[in-house]
Amino acid sequence: MRVLLSVLYPVLSLTIFGLYPSMTIGPKEGWQVYSSAQDADGRCICTVVAPEQSLCSRDAKSRQLRQLLEKELNDKMDELKPLIPVLEQYKMDAAVISLFKEEIKNLSAVLTSIQEELGAFDYDELYQRVRRLDNRLRSCMGKLTCGKLMKITGPVTIKTSGTRFGAWMTDPLASTRNNRVWYMDSYTNSKIVREYKTMDDFVAGVVSRTYSLPFKWEGTNHMVYNGSLYYNKYQSNIIVKYSFETGSVLAQRALEFAGFHNMYPYTWGGFSDIDVMADELGMWVVYATNQNAGNVVVSQIDPDTLHVLKTWNTEYSKRNAGESFMICGTLYITNSHLSGAKVYYAYSTKTSTYEYIDIPFHNQYFHISMLDYNAKERALYAWNNGHQVIFNVTLFHVIKTDDDS
Ligand SMILES: *[C@@H]1O[C@H](CO)[C@@H](O)[C@H](O)[C@H]1NC(C)=O
Ligand SMILES: *[C@@H]1O[C@H](CO)[C@@H](O)[C@H](O)[C@H]1NC(C)=O
Ligand SMILES: *[C@@H]1O[C@H](CO)[C@@H](O)[C@H](O)[C@H]1NC(C)=O
Repeated sequence: MRVLLSVLYPVLSLTIFGLYPSMTIGPKEGWQVYSSAQDADGRCICTVVAPEQSLCSRDAKSRQLRQLLEKELNDKMDELKPLIPVLEQYKMDAAVISLFKEEIKNLSAVLTSIQEELGAFDYDELYQRVRRLDNRLRSCMGKLTCGKLMKITGPVTIKTSGTRFGAWMTDPLASTRNNRVWYMDSYTNSKIVREYKTMDDFVAGVVSRTYSLPFKWEGTNHMVYNGSLYYNKYQSNIIVKYSFETGSVLAQRALEFAGFHNMYPYTWGGFSDIDVMADELGMWVVYATNQNAGNVVVSQIDPDTLHVLKTWNTEYSKRNAGESFMICGTLYITNSHLSGAKVYYAYSTKTSTYEYIDIPFHNQYFHISMLDYNAKERALYAWNNGHQVIFNVTLFHVIKTDDDS
């Protein structure tokens, strides 16, 4: 089977004072926006052709508009730049691709209508249209962001506190007004969760609430998701869902066959056998079983009932995994918790295939006991030897442009 894949990324090819002699643009015609859904290389291209400079220099309004457009499009280009060096080719989910193609088609239609309707110079209207185009481009880029991990930048050290081992997090499903931070120091014999209203409060040490959980936890691989804490109950393979709002346990369920209590921990130990996490697609749990010879198992979980929806068995030994996190349905595993650690293995639940990869990150304090992805912030939260740090991630989306030819 030959499947042609090619990279699709939006490129704003900005032609200010545009001088495409071959195009039939008279100096009086003003701004025009051209687009094609894809060029020969599969790129999404928008070209803005501005009036000639002499015209602009005579016209303050036009100059102002030019500056606005220039700034806006340059900002867009800056956002898009990290997408440009994509060279690899991957299989991607067909539904995501067709949605993205549709969005490109929509974008293209908008551009065409701008092009057709803009007979006269109506700056306000044009500006509004550029704003709307901008929104379309954002949405286009939003589609691109669910993709493959390419790069990890940072870290930024947010705070230095607690023991060598712990967990801290924000809620990826919280509303934008709600920036609460949760903090769970140590990996055993504890049930105290601290809550901070904002990241600033966290840095300043201003606790807003303290929760005493009904059961102690084990490990550091907890998660806050949609207002509830999910964690591994001590000395068991039970996952607990605890509501911060009501202070009650909403669900608890044993994860069948999952090793616990240092049977299959990550490399650093610490009862880190069972790792609950979330990504763009929902809730997951990473663990290991005897049935899978102690290799990493990943299951998609219903966040309400804690039932396992689907399970994938990898061939990566859990005890040789430093940490793992999920992005867009792909499980990424690091090879160590110590210096020189890198993201080493990727398992796609879409295709049930794996590959070895090599994505370095800066293990600044030499001992990572927690590493989890936050899809809203597109960031990795880490606990590094008593330091709470954040990494940014760069993702790429790849589009299949040629189906089965
Ligand atoms: C494309 O436009 C149609 C009609 O306006 C809309 O229903 C659809 O949701 C749009 N698709 C995307 C992916 O934005
Ligand atoms: C989050 O919780 C609200 C109610 O608290 C619920 O309506 C919504 O469906 C939940 N979202 C997810 C993704 O579970
Ligand atoms: C991540 O990116 C955001 C936005 O560009 C930036 O404000 C933040 O400082 C970055 N954080 C890290 C850890 O690099």
